[in-house]
Amino acid sequence: MAKVLLALCMGVAASTTVWAAQVSPPVLDSERVKEGQGIYRQYCSSCHGGNAEGALDWREPNEQGELPPPPHNQEGHTWRHSDADLYEMIAKGWRDPFNETDHLTMPPFGEILAPEEIEAVVTYLKSLWTEEQRRYQLQESLKEPFPAATKQNP
Ligand code: HEC
Repeated sequence: MAKVLLALCMGVAASTTVWAAQVSPPVLDSERVKEGQGIYRQYCSSCHGGNAEGALDWREPNEQGELPPPPHNQEGHTWRHSDADLYEMIAKGWRDPFNETDHLTMPPFGEILAPEEIEAVVTYLKSLWTEEQRRYQLQESLKEPFPAATKQNP
């Protein structure tokens, strides 16, 4: 019985892997990417860099014990977050729990940007990632999509 169960589990695991490998991220809407890039340049590039390359030494906390703005391109780890997480971090602001500071080093934009604008910025960031990073991020976002109140976009 145990052997049958094991075989069954392995079968499921194998087919899940095949399924995951087959899901390709949708082609991004180039208009949304352009719109997002415009918003990015206006509101984000002063900290995260003109091409989302992040601050120099972004991995090391500064003298205040705060983590500098990270890159959002394929060198960073923004792609590890689901759409829901990215939306929340941008709308409500964020600081790494390990920061030795209590203010939000990443400012909240929920009162400045409309939900569609936050999604457009995220769409722009997606255009900076590798196919594999996008595939990973898509899997995360299927579980945790953008808030339902906003328009669903790749
Ligand atoms: C005043 C500087 C500043 C501005 C402006 C700013 N950020 Fe940030 N952002 C930060 C800092 C600093 C962090 C790192 C916080 C930490 O990890 O402690 C961060 C973190 C983030 C993160 C989470 C980290 C990750 O995994 O990538 C996202 C997403 C993000 N910013 C997106 C944006 C977007 C989109 C905008 C523009 C709408 C923006 N930021 C504008 C400073 C800024």
